[in-house]
Amino acid sequence: MRLFFALWPPAPAAAALERWAGETRRDTGGRVTRPQTIHLTLAFLGEVEDERLQSAIAAGHAVGGALHSLPIDEARYWEHNRVVWVGPREMPAPLGALAGALRAELLREGFALEKRPFQAHVTLIRKAHAPRALPPLPAIDWPVEAFVLVRSELSSDGSDYAFVERFALGG
Ligand code: 2AM
Repeated sequence: MRLFFALWPPAPAAAALERWAGETRRDTGGRVTRPQTIHLTLAFLGEVEDERLQSAIAAGHAVGGALHSLPIDEARYWEHNRVVWVGPREMPAPLGALAGALRAELLREGFALEKRPFQAHVTLIRKAHAPRALPPLPAIDWPVEAFVLVRSELSSDGSDYAFVERFALGG
């Protein structure tokens, strides 16, 4: 199964991001992420054998993290994979710590992870053309209270995601 850890926005934040992406798409074309699948990936595991699922869950539970808020104050276009994404202009320290701790636990559990550094991003449009200008972002309220382990299934209209486990932060 294909697994990854992610932050999921509350529904109003996802709706606001989808509206912004819909507006942006008039300029860039491409495919807008469906609101229920909008997320920020913390760690991508890729294909994992069924019997390794418990190890991934254990890694998530071993990670502590602080409640924080995720600012969405930057919108960018990546030429190399033709996506429009949004994210924090400056990485919130608790988010960097969370991603780092999760990575360490996953490595300890023996998962192979990509070496590239964590880049907090929320992909909103794929197969986009370079935008002339990106519209101003709406105010987004994205409290980070938990992260989730997600199973990804490819379907005819993109990826379908199923939540495997939720890991609460703070407390
Ligand atoms: P993306 O949004 O930049 O495509 C599920 O595929 C999630 O894992 C996506 O958010 C995707 O990021 C991320 N991801 C990270 N590394 C990946 C990889 N090597 N292949 C596919 N998705 C990856």
